[in-house]
Amino acid sequence: MANENHVPSTEEADWKEKVFESLSLPALILTPDRRIVSVNRNFQKKFGKLKEDIVGRSCHNFFYHSEAPCEIDFCPLSKVLADRVGHTSLRRVMGASGKEAWEDRVFSPILDDEGNVRYIIESIRDVTKLKTLEKELVGIRAFMEKLVQSSTSGIIAANRRGRILVINQAAEELTGYSMEQAQKGEISAMGLYRPGEAKKLMMLLRDETYGGRGKLPCTRTTLVSAQGEEIPVELTAAIIYDGNREVGTMGIFNDLREKLAHEERMNRMLARISQAEKLASLGQLAAGVAHEINNPLTGILLFANLILENLPPEDPRQAEVKYIIDDANRCGEIVKNLLAYSRQTSQNKEILHLNTLLENGLSLIRDQKLFMNIDIVKDLSDEMMLIHADKNQLGQVIINLVMNAVDAMSRKGTLTFRTYRDKAAKKVYLEASDTGCGIPKENLSRIFDPFFTTKAVGKGTGLGLSTVYGIVHENGGNIWVKDTSPEGTTFIVELPLYQVAYEEHAPTLPPLSQLPGKEPASL
Ligand SMILES: Nc1ncnc2c1ncn2[C@@H]1O[C@H](COP(=O)(O)OP(=O)(O)OP(=O)(O)O)[C@@H](O)[C@H]1O
Ligand SMILES: [Mg+2]
Repeated sequence: MANENHVPSTEEADWKEKVFESLSLPALILTPDRRIVSVNRNFQKKFGKLKEDIVGRSCHNFFYHSEAPCEIDFCPLSKVLADRVGHTSLRRVMGASGKEAWEDRVFSPILDDEGNVRYIIESIRDVTKLKTLEKELVGIRAFMEKLVQSSTSGIIAANRRGRILVINQAAEELTGYSMEQAQKGEISAMGLYRPGEAKKLMMLLRDETYGGRGKLPCTRTTLVSAQGEEIPVELTAAIIYDGNREVGTMGIFNDLREKLAHEERMNRMLARISQAEKLASLGQLAAGVAHEINNPLTGILLFANLILENLPPEDPRQAEVKYIIDDANRCGEIVKNLLAYSRQTSQNKEILHLNTLLENGLSLIRDQKLFMNIDIVKDLSDEMMLIHADKNQLGQVIINLVMNAVDAMSRKGTLTFRTYRDKAAKKVYLEASDTGCGIPKENLSRIFDPFFTTKAVGKGTGLGLSTVYGIVHENGGNIWVKDTSPEGTTFIVELPLYQVAYEEHAPTLPPLSQLPGKEPASL
């Protein structure tokens, strides 16, 4: 390579030329005023031109057929001259096949003895493959990001110290925390659980016998949301390793609230079905037994009364015969209850107002002395609450609920009735709340069973609530205990709302009291 001050020996020039020629990359040598002084073989091959057609031209003229040098942002040659160090420039070019290609142009200065830039070697490296891989990688990253974000399961990844690195949209919704809060360090992975729970999960994760090293198979746990709500979730987790070193953890969460609620609904339904089956078979049995006992019982009562009439008043056997009559009468009551339970009577449905039904039921209680020390409170809605039901049957429901409440309160307390409706759900509700002793938890699942009673022998047959259950269901409704504690119990009777045609289309209704010819507002 020529130098004005230094004339190289033939051997040196030969050697330098060989190095330049043997470069595996296409390369050219430029003077600081951008004139091409030499190009190597690979350069000629790449551009399909001979050295003679290239040397002497300016680089901008050769590459871009331009008379003016390229912009400084595009060509780093000026920077090389100023800094006297190498610079690179990445360029998108059109490849020989017309496809997009990428070149990395490396500009290296050749300095003279004074340290000034004498020449610049520009070599061209084809980085299309690298660039394509990079683009693919960016694409894969974006895809992975989308994958994580679009997952309906919550995904959270944290580093070893519990700092949250990834929290996808589903996890944000589940926990109420945002990625922004996680980035600011306002929440850590440990803070997502009850105290001590994260530590327990980490122990399970590291336990080789539990799902294998670094893996936690589906486990139930509880998340604590930003609002402090405890959310039951199903968690699958893993430790992220770099070689043998733990670098983080990741967890996939699925909200169990809906599933658990569904399970509970299913269990309730199954319990109801088995209850209904039990009631049906017991009903048949009860009807048979009641029928069979009724006839001999009538005989016993008839003849016992005859004996009593024929005994002189001072006869000591009078008292004994009276016992026979009393006990036979008690048997008669039981038979009556059994018959009510088995409901051998046919249904006679009519359209009734729920409040009227309640009043009717209460009026059926003959022994009004029962209420002497009981305050009856009525909190009755004056909305249109029509039902299509058997008045007599539902009267029995009210009698049984009242009798149970009176017993639970030992005949002293407050009995509150509340009626209301849910128009959208097409249901009406009757609530009966007492201030009685409450139902112990262990009895709750049995109170609707026939013959379940906690009352003394002769005081209760245990058929009241099972009769109620049967009647309510026969009328398309449901009954359950809303609340019970030593301070009292609330039963809810739910029945289908009967909607008259005009009401179905009228979103707002005047109160019942204002409707002509309807039930009075206060009952
Ligand atoms: N309001 C209530 N408060 C507390 N316990 C109640 C209440 N209602 C029912 N129970 C409990 O449920 C049991 C079953 O009630 P159910 O009405 O079926 O039978 P019973 O009242 O014992 O007898 P029967 O009604 O046949 O005379 C009762 O023995 C009682 O233990
Ligand atoms: Mg009862």
